[in-house]
Amino acid sequence: MAPASHLLVPEDVSERFLVTGVLGCLGAWVARAVLADGGEVVGYDLGEDTARLRLVLGDEDTDRVTLVRGDITDLEALERVLDDHAITRVVHLAALQVPFVRANPPLGMRVNVAGTVNVFEAVSGRLDRIPGVAYASSTAVYSASDPSPAPELGGTTPSTLYGVSKLADEGMARVYAADRGLPSVGLRPYVVYGPGRDQGMTSGPTMAMLAATRGEPYAIGYSGTAQYDYAPDVARAFVMAASSGRAGAAVYNAPGVAASMEEVVTAIRAVVPEAEITWGGDTLPFPPELEAVGFDRDVGPFPRTALDAGVAATIAHFRTAA
Ligand SMILES: NC(=O)c1ccc[n+]([C@@H]2O[C@H](COP(=O)([O-])OP(=O)(O)OC[C@H]3O[C@@H](n4cnc5c(N)ncnc54)[C@H](O)[C@@H]3O)[C@@H](O)[C@H]2O)c1
Repeated sequence: MAPASHLLVPEDVSERFLVTGVLGCLGAWVARAVLADGGEVVGYDLGEDTARLRLVLGDEDTDRVTLVRGDITDLEALERVLDDHAITRVVHLAALQVPFVRANPPLGMRVNVAGTVNVFEAVSGRLDRIPGVAYASSTAVYSASDPSPAPELGGTTPSTLYGVSKLADEGMARVYAADRGLPSVGLRPYVVYGPGRDQGMTSGPTMAMLAATRGEPYAIGYSGTAQYDYAPDVARAFVMAASSGRAGAAVYNAPGVAASMEEVVTAIRAVVPEAEITWGGDTLPFPPELEAVGFDRDVGPFPRTALDAGVAATIAHFRTAA
């Protein structure tokens, strides 16, 4: 990975996106969407493993992504990347997911909260060039005791520290909008699925699709109804949000497909009839369904891939990659 040094800024690309957490599942899909638009991607990530980028983009397009290794908790390094690459758009995805925050709460809160305030701080000082921030919040701002569908303006009593970190991010966005004029759009995905979704509390359905492709059995570790968000749809929404130019701090639920685990497994078996998939364990600690009307109203149509189509495309992608 290249160090954060003085690289040439090409003059023939329309927008230069900084994608934090670019080596993760959504980061890879955001990179793909930006490149498809003819933009440039500068990825900022603490990790070094480019496997998800290569799975989602292929080797050739992965090489078009400028990777800068850095920690989101390092404000100076982040500011340097924004300036060295004359960044014009920011999508902030770097975070630790539920199990990782549970395993190390001080680190989790440092990355998810202190890391996010760094992004808000850095962009606030560069609003002449960057119109605001699109960042990942989460359905985890809700708890199981919230009504279903959960009102989009709700979400105040998360039951995990991860959820608390995301709620803190939303609160910081609100204060940065009021105090520093920072426009922001927070998106709250639910269960993201698709190629590259291989870690976190709800990665089971995608791991089951991968196992089905390989002819291996898989046991999904949770049950019940949840909303399923196809990763390329969410990624496209982040790209739209980063360019929306709307004033204020907005937060939107992702309008995924509500499905029971039986329906998810049925969608997998429609493509791989012999798939050996079981599931069990608790339901997720969130309401099964979310209200999601704001993004369509304020930003534009949130892409909506049907569950059957998203599952089929995911399995086809895994087969091609294999
Ligand atoms: N996957 C989901 O179902 C889901 C649902 C709701 C919200 N989200 C949020 O969306 C975002 C992206 O999710 P994902 O599934 O792509 O996650 P992921 O775990 O696949 O990727 C996260 C990336 O962040 C990077 N990262 C971690 N700590 C860092 C640090 N200190 N500095 C720089 N980079 C760091 C990791 O190396 C990794 O590449 C996250 O903020 C996540 O909380 C995800």
